[in-house]
Amino acid sequence: MAKKESLVRPEQIKEDERDMTLRPKYLSEFIGQKGMKENLSVFISAAKQRGESLDHLFLIGPPGLGKTTLAQVVANELDTDFVQTSAPALDKPKDLVGLLTNLKKGDVFFIDEIHRLKPAIEELLYIAMEDYGIDWVVGQGPMARTLRIAINPFTLVGATTKAGIVSSPLISRFGITCRFSFYGQEDMEAIVMRSAGLLEIKIENDAASLLAKSSRGTPRVVNRLLRRMRDFAQFSGEKSITLSVVRSGLSRLEIDDLGLEKQDRDILKIIIERYKGGPVGADTLAISIGESVETLEDYYEPYLIQAGLLQRTARGRMVTTLAYGRLGITPPAGNGEGSLFQ
Ligand SMILES: Nc1ncnc2c1ncn2[C@@H]1O[C@H](COP(=O)(O)OP(=O)(O)OP(=O)(O)O)[C@@H](O)[C@H]1O
Ligand SMILES: [Mg+2]
Repeated sequence: MAKKESLVRPEQIKEDERDMTLRPKYLSEFIGQKGMKENLSVFISAAKQRGESLDHLFLIGPPGLGKTTLAQVVANELDTDFVQTSAPALDKPKDLVGLLTNLKKGDVFFIDEIHRLKPAIEELLYIAMEDYGIDWVVGQGPMARTLRIAINPFTLVGATTKAGIVSSPLISRFGITCRFSFYGQEDMEAIVMRSAGLLEIKIENDAASLLAKSSRGTPRVVNRLLRRMRDFAQFSGEKSITLSVVRSGLSRLEIDDLGLEKQDRDILKIIIERYKGGPVGADTLAISIGESVETLEDYYEPYLIQAGLLQRTARGRMVTTLAYGRLGITPPAGNGEGSLFQ
């Protein structure tokens, strides 16, 4: 399957960087994730009351659901600075030490893609998180000594799309864990309306509703599609985004009302046609669709599973009966290997 630019792929692309204006700044503007938000709000007020830094915070969830946004919101709510880096950028211990020693009391220190930390850096981070200190080795050979350097108490916010491969010593040092789930229809509609307001785009209610439904429960995707729909509306001389603009826009982009793109449908089709509906191993499937296993697991599967079209089983990936219906293919009769008839 040829690779192509995808509008519903949830990882950040260049264009999304302009989205800064759309990022909620405070919890009150952060839509959805209700339970998580309520708890966080309690922890933040309690830490502020005590004049202490907030416990370290671990954010888990698929791309584009608001992890970076929430980390910034926490800093704003705490009224502290936000210092941002990502694990791949921390190459040498001194890269981390430089950042840690410059933190002010209570600052929020955000490490994105925390599952990609190098072991030596991770070790340093343990002491920084636990004791607000850094063990720094000076000298070499028999003359080497370890100096403990004190740093200001801070809040580490670590974000990952792959909680499964984060080491348990690191996980155990986070006091608070927030797991993001895909946003429901109501929250997605609220996000479209909010973004449209901020970008001064007019959109009709039924159009917003269809757009919300077609955006894979992912705020980044809905913001991106909203801008595309504005282009289509402008092109056809409409003053606002109407239902028919969204309908024809989505069909031109080959996105269906579940937010599935051609690639997603191709994945399901390949499992059905080449592997009798599965089970098929992730490696084999990734090769068949011409993507890496990582891309398959991070970007395609979470939503296909959430939408009830795909299942991960011990023996591999299998499509569900819903997937047959979606593609208009008649499921094989009987309880053949390839089908999940419940
Ligand atoms: N709860 C929310 N309410 C409103 N808008 C949101 C919300 N969460 C995210 N967004 C919007 O979605 C965009 C993507 O969010 P963000 O960059 O925080 O995702 P992420 O989880 O950090 O993704 P990645 O894993 O790729 O780093 C933001 O620019 C923001 O505009
Ligand atoms: Mg992010």
